[in-house]
Amino acid sequence: MEYTLDYFTGLAEDAIAGISYPTTAPGLYEPIQYTMASGGKRLRPALCMAAYAAVSRREPLEIAHQAIAVEMFHNFTLLHDDVMDNADLRRGRPTVHRRSGQNAAILSGDAMLTMAYGLLAEGAGSRFANIFEVFNHTAMEVYQGQQLDMEFESRTDVKVDEYIEMIRLKTSVLIACGCTIGAMLADAEKEVCRRLYDYGLALGLAFQLRDDWLDTFGDPAVFGKEIGGDIANNKKTWLLITALNEAPEQITPLLSNKLDREEKVSRVTEIYRSLGLDRRCDELAARYAKDAIAAIDELEMDATARAFFKSLATNAATRNH
Ligand code: IPE
Ligand code: IPE
Ligand code: MG
Ligand code: MG
Ligand code: MG
Repeated sequence: MEYTLDYFTGLAEDAIAGISYPTTAPGLYEPIQYTMASGGKRLRPALCMAAYAAVSRREPLEIAHQAIAVEMFHNFTLLHDDVMDNADLRRGRPTVHRRSGQNAAILSGDAMLTMAYGLLAEGAGSRFANIFEVFNHTAMEVYQGQQLDMEFESRTDVKVDEYIEMIRLKTSVLIACGCTIGAMLADAEKEVCRRLYDYGLALGLAFQLRDDWLDTFGDPAVFGKEIGGDIANNKKTWLLITALNEAPEQITPLLSNKLDREEKVSRVTEIYRSLGLDRRCDELAARYAKDAIAAIDELEMDATARAFFKSLATNAATRNH
């Protein structure tokens, strides 16, 4: 078995292609298939299967259902997130609510959540109770993070610590959940499960910081999402929070909705650049990537597995899509 991202994402793609959908009310499932087949990075299932394989040296496909449960849950959050963020584009294609309407995004999203729990249970046997607890707790945290994300839109006094806690909840915990349930399914010791969880948590912080960076400075053709959505929505990203701290007189007047979108995005981006925030955001993401690597430093695993986890952490902080 090779420890490459292509290998694990290939396994995830095959497992996703093998999901069967009920035939009643096909309109419910079409947006799910559209979403699941739209080529995400498959980071979460790849990490879940890699964690399983790394600690047990067993076949990663043995836990394909659980890995895909995490991916299905992630995709469910994207359907609802795109409604909440009023986003037009996802993975280079129209979002479900733009393409099929808000009701489809809500209801197909609900069905995905239910399917995720079904997949989680499939073949998990006596290990189900433990992974269910982690998964369920994680799901509740993701909703908490999304709630904070929305509440922060209308605040101007959000602190960096509050932002980090918000992205820990909305993004990191699900990545960490994938890693730790992979280890749990391999009957790894608690300490091993904990370290892989901490790895996913730190990687997730780097990943979301980079997502926020890409939302402003990314190349839309590569990123697959529209640039400037965070600025348009006054999202309290690290970039905006830091600009509000360091240049409040320049940034505050731009937050009212008097400017048209394009002008707002370009003027805010200019201020971010003039403060050097593009570079400093990168540096912060790189620090979290290092924390992730440190979390698994003392875990026993093959050198190729360790190199895989390291490169994924680095990639989370430097990726372009
Ligand atoms: C998007 O996640 C939501 C965030 C947490 C930033 P990904 O960037 O993993 O999305 P896909 O699955 O690869 O499209
Ligand atoms: C996403 O945060 C977090 C969840 C979907 C839970 P974002 O709103 O930044 O994700 P994108 O940029 O739309 O993918
Ligand atoms: Mg969002
Ligand atoms: Mg969004
Ligand atoms: Mg984003």
